[in-house]
Amino acid sequence: MIFDVLTLFPGMFASPLQESILSRAAKQGLLQVRTHCLRDWAEGKHQTTDDTPYGGGDGMVMKPEPIARALAALKEQTPKAKVLLMTPQGTQFSQRHSKELAKEEGLIFLCGRYEGFDERIRQSLVDAEFSIGDYVLTGGELPAMVMIDAISRHLPGVLGCSSSAETDSFSDGLLEYPQYTRPVEFNGMTVPQILLSGDHGKIAQWRREQQLLRTWQRRPDLLRKIKLSEEDKKTLERLQQSLESDN
Ligand SMILES: C[S@@+](CC[C@H](N)C(=O)[O-])C[C@H]1O[C@@H](n2cnc3c(N)ncnc32)[C@H](O)[C@@H]1O
Repeated sequence: MIFDVLTLFPGMFASPLQESILSRAAKQGLLQVRTHCLRDWAEGKHQTTDDTPYGGGDGMVMKPEPIARALAALKEQTPKAKVLLMTPQGTQFSQRHSKELAKEEGLIFLCGRYEGFDERIRQSLVDAEFSIGDYVLTGGELPAMVMIDAISRHLPGVLGCSSSAETDSFSDGLLEYPQYTRPVEFNGMTVPQILLSGDHGKIAQWRREQQLLRTWQRRPDLLRKIKLSEEDKKTLERLQQSLESDN
């Protein structure tokens, strides 16, 4: 997978990509993150990439021509790459998108600054627009890093344990079950006995129950989006009833 990033601040990417899992994956050739400074495609003595908004108003708007030239150059190297525009107005990025995008050969991230992009960039040069949440950041670099990190976890070989991406929260529409490690007792709290039992069938059943319970308690919106099996529905009803009778 090749991730190309078009940005005015390529230096922002250095540190996050030089640490931990992404750095190891890049060294193993499982992925490549190439950052490109948008100014390299700007013209004139000042290499201007932005201009004042038509109609007036505060701030500057990113010009279309440098971005069009940059994308044309990048597409020559990776013609099948999908162009993703970072914008708070885009589709909210989710685990499902990260898994789908991991199947692409290449992705080009367009990072905005100032007041954002000239509308014609969105209309003619991009394949999809993504937001990482309902808040406004100063630039698209952090959203691009967030997306690259989440997508990379689905690339073969990137995670030491390939099953962890499958059991993480959101993978099957539910939150993950609670996790415990040593010591067995901490500040008066003990690890649930079932996890020490060695009975893998019972542990799997307990974990599924915990997933259902957690999701219902913390993110009921997620439960409305997935189709639960009849067994899961019965389990959830039983857990809900036992909690109600406790209260
Ligand atoms: C200050 S923002 C511009 C916001 C724009 N004026 C608006 O209200 O929609 C500058 C750039 O940061 C990036 N950005 C900010 N918040 C974002 C978010 N939640 N998700 C994705 N990108 C974001 C985008 O690339 C955007 O062009």
